[in-house]
Amino acid sequence: MDWGMANRMHRMFSPASGNTVMLAVDHGYFMGPTRRLEDARATIAPLVPYADALALTRGLLRHSVDPTTSVPIVLRVSGGSTILKEDLSHEAVTTSMEEAVRLNVSAVALSVFVGAPHEHESLVHLSELVDDAEAAGLPVMAITAVGKELEKRDARYLALACRVSAELGARIVKTYYCDDFSKVVEGCPVPLVVAGGPKLDSDEAALTLARHAIDEGAHGIDMGRNIWQSDHPVAMLKALRAIVHEKATVREALDVLNGSKANPSPRAAVT
Ligand code: R5P
Repeated sequence: MDWGMANRMHRMFSPASGNTVMLAVDHGYFMGPTRRLEDARATIAPLVPYADALALTRGLLRHSVDPTTSVPIVLRVSGGSTILKEDLSHEAVTTSMEEAVRLNVSAVALSVFVGAPHEHESLVHLSELVDDAEAAGLPVMAITAVGKELEKRDARYLALACRVSAELGARIVKTYYCDDFSKVVEGCPVPLVVAGGPKLDSDEAALTLARHAIDEGAHGIDMGRNIWQSDHPVAMLKALRAIVHEKATVREALDVLNGSKANPSPRAAVT
């Protein structure tokens, strides 16, 4: 791996744990002003110190993130459909590699829609993006999107989508946790990170999802709604860090969550 590529990967994935806690705030690119992300700057600012990377679009980056930040940026570069359409798979690459380099990002991300009407286009877009990104020394993160078909999130489907993404050159794949997740991991030769999906019933449920995902081989999370739609987003992110980086049990992570709720403090040392 070339130095630039290796450096970007190591800035996102902790050399100590091998894992990453990415904060996903890219939902607006097809969902609009998602609940509790309406004022993105206000939502993002207190969370950034606890994130290993920030996943978002160029618009939100320019308008809602202070350029003095040192947090690595995973730039979403695909789009073109909104939730008003039944088929969300009609996407294209919406941001050039030149723009990604100008924004000094650490990785670019694109959704692939395996099995959807625009499967072919999304896979060709991934391949072309990999060509451009590799030339620039940037890793590509493929996102195995399911559109509105959340029931697609099973091991057989996700193993297929993740393997295809890796074969086409993605260096990171973002997917969903599912039953038999280890089968998804076994078939994918590059690091997997898991999204949280729609807000779960409790913070504990999201922490449990993360614990299972790491136990079964994920290299981290790229989570959004279960963090910033929580009533205690900073505490939640700290608790997730304990799981992803410190091997905390769900019980221990809940102690971190409750301790942080009771005593919110500025960032001291982040592991
Ligand atoms: C889709 O909107 C994006 O890829 C999100 O970044 C991804 O779904 C992760 O966010 P969440 O944990 O809210 O599902």
